[in-house]
Amino acid sequence: MPRRNKIALIGAGNIGGELAALAAREELGDVVLFDIPDKEGLAKGKALDLEQNGSVLGYDAHIKGSSSWDDCAGADVVIVTAGVPRKPGMSRDDLLSINLKIIRNVAENIKAKCPNAFVIVISNPLDAMVFELKKVSGLPAERVVGMAGVLDSARLQLFLAREMAVSIKDVRAMVLGGHGDTMVPVLSYCTVNGVPVTQLIAKDKLDAIVTRTAGGGGEIVKLMGTSAYYAPATSAIAMARAYLYDEKRLLPAAAYCDGDYGYKDMYIGVPVIIGGAGVEKIVKIELSAEEKANLDKSAGAVRELLEASKKL
Ligand SMILES: NC(=O)c1ccc[n+]([C@@H]2O[C@H](COP(=O)([O-])OP(=O)(O)OC[C@H]3O[C@@H](n4cnc5c(N)ncnc54)[C@H](O)[C@@H]3O)[C@@H](O)[C@H]2O)c1
Repeated sequence: MPRRNKIALIGAGNIGGELAALAAREELGDVVLFDIPDKEGLAKGKALDLEQNGSVLGYDAHIKGSSSWDDCAGADVVIVTAGVPRKPGMSRDDLLSINLKIIRNVAENIKAKCPNAFVIVISNPLDAMVFELKKVSGLPAERVVGMAGVLDSARLQLFLAREMAVSIKDVRAMVLGGHGDTMVPVLSYCTVNGVPVTQLIAKDKLDAIVTRTAGGGGEIVKLMGTSAYYAPATSAIAMARAYLYDEKRLLPAAAYCDGDYGYKDMYIGVPVIIGGAGVEKIVKIELSAEEKANLDKSAGAVRELLEASKKL
């Protein structure tokens, strides 16, 4: 019998609320907005507000706020934002010890209640969190993915479009590597409708754009006192949609590498195909020697985080 998709959002904070709004508006399925018991009122309040929003906008989605994992049982998609965000002056890595404990708890519950879900992790430090979630939940690698590359690429896309004063719609950009200061904007694959940006923008300007992209999250934390949430939510929803509608989109995402690109037993941002089977493929692309060296450096930084996680 046909049934409606169920989307469980773990964490009802800034990103969680925006995820719920987008999932409902796009009618991706019914939504459970989950948070800890202390924040149950927040989860329930946001859920009710968003259900009422449907009357005006005309979408048909049931949205339930909850602090019980039973309500998340059988979810088709789980998106994890549980944890704390950065404050000004903090790096993503500073969140490791706090968020690791939270992710382990979330992973145990996903294992028990949502073993068939496609899981998208957003919590930082992203590459370490998604690795831990896969390890503890025991879900297969193709059903656990981290969101970072879509967001980092969106930031790069914006800065390139503004520099050239062209429509953002015509710019394609790709950022690979870990979701931290060592992320790798891959300029050889950034184009304006197929024209490489390296032919259109002077090198010094491109260098400045690359630097701004790598610090793109920090720029917003400094302005707002907390992390970005609109574009992070939209990015994760694009990934959820690719899975639910079997879109087979090629997107940069933190995927489990088992020898891919020379990286073993770790998550890092690589180009993947997301479709109905989850992460269906890690796509191998040619990188220049400099880009590969930068990716290796980024993988080294992720590896250090994983080593630090093991001690916590
Ligand atoms: N991957 C990315 O590109 C990216 C981008 C922006 C932010 N982030 C990260 O996403 C995370 C969430 O950001 P936010 O702005 O929504 O933060 P937030 O503080 O607004 O929301 C986080 C929520 O998680 C909840 N939570 C804590 N422990 C929990 C548990 N055990 N189970 C369920 N919920 C729990 C908190 O109560 C809180 O409501 C942060 O770690 C942030 O650094 C990642």
